[in-house]
Amino acid sequence: MESKPPLESDSRWITTCELRDLPPSSMKRFDRKANRILLANIDNQIFAVDDTCTHEDASLSTGFLKGDLVKCPLHGSRFCVRDGRALEEPAETSLNCYPTRVQNGNVEVYI
Ligand code: FES
Repeated sequence: MESKPPLESDSRWITTCELRDLPPSSMKRFDRKANRILLANIDNQIFAVDDTCTHEDASLSTGFLKGDLVKCPLHGSRFCVRDGRALEEPAETSLNCYPTRVQNGNVEVYI
């Protein structure tokens, strides 16, 4: 079944931070209830993926961002923040991705 795109007014759009706090080539973690989300600014495009590595319980926000790839700080798996793909073992499972938008200078994520 094909998923519907999020509605503009949908209450699942959550404000995470101000865009000025997420400059290009940076990333940060956003926690909300059970969700741990990694936000990354790649050339002024904002991407959001799961922050927890799919190999073990490591926070990718404490890893390294190079281009559009984030490297896990624990065992070095790399993931693409654009589509969540796991590119290097030991992680084999991709990260979930979340739609993002910028509204009034704030970064919002659809959770
Ligand atoms: S916890 Fe991330 S690669 Fe092992």
